[in-house]
Amino acid sequence: MSAINKEYKRVTVKSLVEMKSNNEKISMLTAYDYTMAKIVDSAGIDVILVGDSASNVMAGHETTLPITLDQMIYHASGVVRAARRALIVVDLPFGSYQSDAKEALRSSIRIMKESGGHAVKLEGGKEIKDSIKKILNAGIPVMGHLGLTPQSIYKFGTYTVRAKEDEEAKKLIEDALFLQKSGCFAIVLEKVPAKLAKRVAEKLTIPVIGIGAGNGVDGQVLVLHDLLGMTHEFNPRFLRRYLNLHDLMTEAVGNYITDVKAVDFPNESEQY
Ligand code: KIV
Repeated sequence: MSAINKEYKRVTVKSLVEMKSNNEKISMLTAYDYTMAKIVDSAGIDVILVGDSASNVMAGHETTLPITLDQMIYHASGVVRAARRALIVVDLPFGSYQSDAKEALRSSIRIMKESGGHAVKLEGGKEIKDSIKKILNAGIPVMGHLGLTPQSIYKFGTYTVRAKEDEEAKKLIEDALFLQKSGCFAIVLEKVPAKLAKRVAEKLTIPVIGIGAGNGVDGQVLVLHDLLGMTHEFNPRFLRRYLNLHDLMTEAVGNYITDVKAVDFPNESEQY
């Protein structure tokens, strides 16, 4: 707990840029519901991402593509009701911003109005420049997302490390600079070589938050259910598990079943 800087009463997009200039690393985690967000927020996290990874983690889809805008707003609303300190960033889901800038703005306005989130995140660089401009012009803060962009999984074909080749690395740097110039307040860099991520973080004045991008960036993000060890079949190299909640929960549920079958639960003090 001592590593938490309580100076940021409500973390804002401005405080994140200050953290970067003060060399203070930014902590970010996903959350998709009230109860988990309350725990994560009271632990002192800087940013809660209502990620479209809810599509995998909460709904059991293979990819992030099926989750809808209505579903993202539902998840984000619970998180907003829970969090007192963290900045809340909400993913624009696949199909809610790619077709044109007006639709991107409409989707972002719905997120801000109906969930109460503080910012939106979207995947891509120059190819979505009109959408980014339109959203920012409406006063909505935008976080970029480069490297492995899971909404384009069918274009990539795999979830392997991105930008290992010079050409892709060069495009990634150009896109990062472009997102900064456009007015994005931060960028997520997913699954790229640590050296490249460090280079990007050094080139930019806005924070670069990494996942599978090494420790030379300005902050880290993980999916909460991965960190807690609930998704035990998912084992990427970048993941550090802080708990084995899968086994702990399985054991707890098993004990409950045993107690029910043995008529040991409820006992006398647990009834009226
Ligand atoms: O949806 C998500 O959880 C994300 C993180 C992996 C950055 O975009």
